[in-house]
Amino acid sequence: MTLSPRLAAVAGLVRQGSRFCDVGTDHGCLPVWLVSQGICSGGIAADLRAGPLSRAAETVKRAGLSEKITLCLSDGLDQIPSGSAEDIIMAGMGGMTMLRIIERTAWLCDRSIRLILQPQSCQPELRRYLADAGFAVETERAVREGRHCYDLFSLSYTGRRQTLTPVEAVVGRLPQNRDEDSVCYVKMQLRRVKRQYDGLFRSGRDAAETKELLLALEHCLEEMT
Ligand SMILES: C[S@@+](CC[C@H](N)C(=O)[O-])C[C@H]1O[C@@H](n2cnc3c(N)ncnc32)[C@H](O)[C@@H]1O
Repeated sequence: MTLSPRLAAVAGLVRQGSRFCDVGTDHGCLPVWLVSQGICSGGIAADLRAGPLSRAAETVKRAGLSEKITLCLSDGLDQIPSGSAEDIIMAGMGGMTMLRIIERTAWLCDRSIRLILQPQSCQPELRRYLADAGFAVETERAVREGRHCYDLFSLSYTGRRQTLTPVEAVVGRLPQNRDEDSVCYVKMQLRRVKRQYDGLFRSGRDAAETKELLLALEHCLEEMT
């Protein structure tokens, strides 16, 4: 089995020897890959819906890993007991869904747990929430797949609350990386904020804050290239 560049990058943030829980597993490829590559000895593949979970069950069975990967029907981590996994993966889901799952799972506030997140949307809201709730980013990466560029990051709880700048909320720590995919991600966000600015400007609404963000992102990109 080979993983897409996005999922391979997610797998790259999982700690060797940890027990994982893949929330929103869908096809179950990531859990199977983690175990078959010897990165983890076992873990949990969870999904909200029975359809995706049965797809995951099929993938796990085909790989002969039914004894090592537990399948669990669960809304977020609601059915996952504390202590059953150390590396919590959420990939390919909306940022607000991730935020709500983290917000209601008290046992994530433990320094030994690593969150590995690859949100599809609402990244600024998710980043702001995590910083304010005392989670600190350990590693952040961007990865290009086809025409899209994704960002992903790992975090753990420190209890130290942080307030992010508007640029940090939008592009996280990627400006420090300076690699091609991080540049691609910052450019993508720059285009998104430009569209937002144009819309506000055309409709005569207050665009001052968005313009400030746009200029800060342009500066950030100049520094990266
Ligand atoms: C687009 S798929 C992503 C699959 C895989 N994680 C990946 O990155 O390729 C999103 C999956 O998240 C699941 N999902 C959505 N909301 C969820 C929730 N609250 N709890 C658990 N799973 C959820 C969906 O059922 C779906 O299978």
